[in-house]
Amino acid sequence: MISTGIDKLTFYTPAHFIDLSTLAKRDNIDPAKYQTGIGQDAFSVASHDEDIVTMAANAAATLLKDEDTSNIDTLIMATESSIDQSKAAAIYVQQLLNLPKNIRAIELKQACYSATAGLQFACAYTAAYPEKKVLLIASDIARYDLHTPAEATQGAAAVAMLISANPRTAILNPFSGLYTEDVMDFWRPNHRNTPLVDGKLSTQIYLKAAENAWKDYINKGGIAFSELAQHCYHLPFTKMGLKAHQKLARSANIEADLSTFINSTYYNRLIGNSYTASLYLSLISALDYRDDLAGCHIGMMSYGSGCVAEYYTLQITENYQQYRYQKHHQTLLQRREPLTLSAYENYWHRPEYQVSEHILITPHTKGEYRLVEIQRHERQYQCCK
Ligand code: CAA
Repeated sequence: MISTGIDKLTFYTPAHFIDLSTLAKRDNIDPAKYQTGIGQDAFSVASHDEDIVTMAANAAATLLKDEDTSNIDTLIMATESSIDQSKAAAIYVQQLLNLPKNIRAIELKQACYSATAGLQFACAYTAAYPEKKVLLIASDIARYDLHTPAEATQGAAAVAMLISANPRTAILNPFSGLYTEDVMDFWRPNHRNTPLVDGKLSTQIYLKAAENAWKDYINKGGIAFSELAQHCYHLPFTKMGLKAHQKLARSANIEADLSTFINSTYYNRLIGNSYTASLYLSLISALDYRDDLAGCHIGMMSYGSGCVAEYYTLQITENYQQYRYQKHHQTLLQRREPLTLSAYENYWHRPEYQVSEHILITPHTKGEYRLVEIQRHERQYQCCK
């Protein structure tokens, strides 16, 4: 059987962040509650001229530099923070990146999970058409209401992945463990800009879904937990992944080995939740921070509230180190600037597009692509290279 999987992957995150100790000071909370209690140091904040499209274009532009794009005939965007109820954000990205017009461009939704569905669809597609490649982008701005317990778990990032036959980074292994249950832990009705969330319930359901998906994977003949060299989880905050890791280890009757988890958390700890991108950001973190994964199998636990969970494994290729973007990722993080509280709250209040006919957006992003204006409810983007 032909192997398919992730050929290359990279992320983009905005150039502003809020340090969680700043939020802790505002609310007179012990900063250790964030640093140790939820395992987060900071989160990226998108400026008004950034959205899921600009972040996706920035991530994909890096990925596609020096790539022949003529064989990419499918562009899938996975997101929770969609900008339109009808038009796929992928179409804006196709135009901004000058991708071929003979391409299918779609958007996928299921909370934080949909990028994994996109990966499965793309691998099945490239197995059938090995000469084709799929551009899969997970892009999200995680936003919660100010002064709520969830506020500290915001963030913003996009991960762009090229999916192909004979991939250069990671091969998708057979079998996938699945779990779906109708539950109201986190949802966002069409009339709301921020999600409704039952935080405590969401953490319980996450663990239940993770365990059930993993058991389904094992029952189907999957690789034993103890044989996996690295474990990656959807990380709304890194402590959540730690709890899932401990739970799955208990189910597998082994002691949780933190050395096979910790490397997947470094980027997420600084960037915060990025919904659909979060699991893949954790994969990038593991690949960037470990030089010993050639030929190894790694576990991937995807979760989207509502809820759907999927557990699958990847086999890392012998030469994966050649295709990493380690330096670029470090540069993105090093160039970030901390926000004051008032600047953060100003960015949090995004322009109310519905009530105005023409909004000109002040440039703030350090990325190559920006949202310039919204006129007659149409978003106009620009490449500022
Ligand atoms: N020092 C060290 N630790 C401290 C501390 C201190 N001074 N004070 C508190 N803590 C610890 C607590 O003991 C607790 O740890 P445990 O969970 O291990 O017991 C932790 O800090 C969190 O404190 P609280 O229990 O008081 O929780 P909270 O009220 O601050 O809310 C939350 C936490 C529910 C996760 C909230 O941030 C939230 O609602 N987040 C959004 C929802 C979410 O991310 N859910 C995750 C699963 S759903 C999902 O994954 C999909 C998705 O992306 C949204």
